[in-house]
Amino acid sequence: MPTKLTCHYHRTGQRVKERRLIQLADRLLKECGMSDHSLSILLVDDEEIRQINSQYRNKNQPTNVLSFPFADGADASLASLPIKELGDVIISVETARREALLYRQSFHERMTWLLVHGLLHLLGFDHERSSGEEEKMQAREQELLRKINNYRRTAMTRLAINVDHVATIRQARGISEPDPVAAAAICELAGAAGIVVHLREDRRHIQDRDVFLLRQTIKSKLNLEMGANKEIIAIALEIKPDLITLVPEKREELTTEGGLDILSQTKKIAKVIEKMAKASIPVSLFLDPDPKQLAVAREIGATFVELHTGRYCDATSETMAEHEFELLAAAAEEGDRMGLRVCAGHGLNYQNTAPIAALDTIEELSIGHAIIARSLFTGMDKAVRDMLAIIRQADMLL
Ligand code: PXP
Repeated sequence: MPTKLTCHYHRTGQRVKERRLIQLADRLLKECGMSDHSLSILLVDDEEIRQINSQYRNKNQPTNVLSFPFADGADASLASLPIKELGDVIISVETARREALLYRQSFHERMTWLLVHGLLHLLGFDHERSSGEEEKMQAREQELLRKINNYRRTAMTRLAINVDHVATIRQARGISEPDPVAAAAICELAGAAGIVVHLREDRRHIQDRDVFLLRQTIKSKLNLEMGANKEIIAIALEIKPDLITLVPEKREELTTEGGLDILSQTKKIAKVIEKMAKASIPVSLFLDPDPKQLAVAREIGATFVELHTGRYCDATSETMAEHEFELLAAAAEEGDRMGLRVCAGHGLNYQNTAPIAALDTIEELSIGHAIIARSLFTGMDKAVRDMLAIIRQADMLL
């Protein structure tokens, strides 16, 4: 990778999603047409940036970001090397965190801005030269931020909400309320990035009518969870959700019990993926955190995998939870490395979600029961916002 990251700050107090930062820098270089250049990022604390600021700029105070172009005083003979050095961007993680709070940004957003700002200085932009230069630099900053924010995993981990259990309550009476379609609208207004419904073969909660109405009404993304069943596949092809998530489905289970075993039904699942691909519907596979399953998912063309967090959530001791967490973290890393887009869900609640949300390889969480349960006491809007606050906090802390 062209970007080299060196960390001098105290990691236990303030951890940065380092891999994500490197990916971001590489994308920025690409956007600037500088993929053949290497960039060095140095993360420091306030004291170290103060020393650098004092030594090289005669300013005896900490600052947020400093840039030192390599060309300044560089050995000209190095210019012919295949990888060209752009220079160093030095960021104070401590100041970045303070500024994130001040400007009400996530820590990652602030770090992104500082990196863009530092990089533009390396490329010769300088807001201190004149107001015209300042305007030029700001415009380029905005342009790069816009582009970079369209990439996945540079934004906060997304929250998709499963509203099945609103339908469960409705079906208990067999009448028309509460309506999962109304619940979905409230979830979206509160900040959910997607709505998930599981159209089960036995229609125990979500009904066909719900799925058709959701398709017409939701503004975010509709994720149709389903078994690889002929009748449901036909419905999916008709309504064209934004994605489908294939899960194992047993009639007698209380909820989806384990991940889909795609090793034992590779052909069948591959066929569904192929059908969906023809209709431009991406497929997510709900899998246990098992590298063998991930490899097959990749092979048969799944776009997403959703890692089953159930065993982590159900762990009865800290040691077990840690073990399950490590499996999830490793599987997310592996999936991401293979080029799969990684989501996670099942059993996540207000106590156990933060560590999962902090994994920078996971882009979306799918949460249902905990949010619907809490909404009985707090209202749906607050239940969603409380979960989003946990995810946002996890994003800032790590
Ligand atoms: N992801 C999948 C694939 C599921 O089957 C479920 C349960 O419907 C969820 C996420 C949400 O799980 P929970 O309701 O425990 O948050």
